[in-house]
Amino acid sequence: MELLKQKIIDEGIVLSDQVLKVDSFLNHRIDPPLMAEIGKTFAQQFRESGITKILTIESSGIAPAVMAGLELGVPVIFARKRKSLTLQEDLYTEKVYSFTKKEESEVSIARKFLAVGDRVLLIDDFLANGEAALAMARIVHQAQGEVAGIGIVIEKAFQDGGSKLREQGYRVESLARVASLRDGIVSFAE
Ligand code: G4P
Repeated sequence: MELLKQKIIDEGIVLSDQVLKVDSFLNHRIDPPLMAEIGKTFAQQFRESGITKILTIESSGIAPAVMAGLELGVPVIFARKRKSLTLQEDLYTEKVYSFTKKEESEVSIARKFLAVGDRVLLIDDFLANGEAALAMARIVHQAQGEVAGIGIVIEKAFQDGGSKLREQGYRVESLARVASLRDGIVSFAE
């Protein structure tokens, strides 16, 4: 997605050869027109996939997921990282190990929001090692649904999440694939 790549070039800050900061339009401040285009692009890619629900993880996955849900006309569920006062009912819970943060956390969603046979599109802001996407996929499988595809805003193609997910047979569509962040410069893969 050219608009997104240009935004990354214009506003992305390379913090190290592993980490790209994009808090001016994705992780802190959100650019609504860009997010609307992101939603339209995901919808074009997955329109024929019979999607019935979108699943993401709070917090930065929510904006692109909502815009895609609006375009596809399906509900959006976000997995919660902390158990809330109101989230005490029957839950699906999975562990997510973050290589970036070197810690394990849990994500949960209420069982009532996923049904047997749901065709779920997973959406997330970043794909690094794929742990978040795999945890979402495990939740969908717990609910006896099907992962119909995975939509990623920015894939760090130099980390192994993308190949791990594709090897497992998932259709992964990334709107920008970053090949390297060496020398403070963002280079894109095909
Ligand atoms: P993984 O799920 O692909 O294995 O990713 P990892 O554990 O490495 O990432 C942990 C968190 O860091 C995730 O956000 C992920 O989106 C984010 N992240 C990973 N690499 C980058 C990067 O290069 N730049 C930025 N900006 N973020 C990155 P999170 O902790 O769930 O945060 P949020 O969704 O609440 O914003």
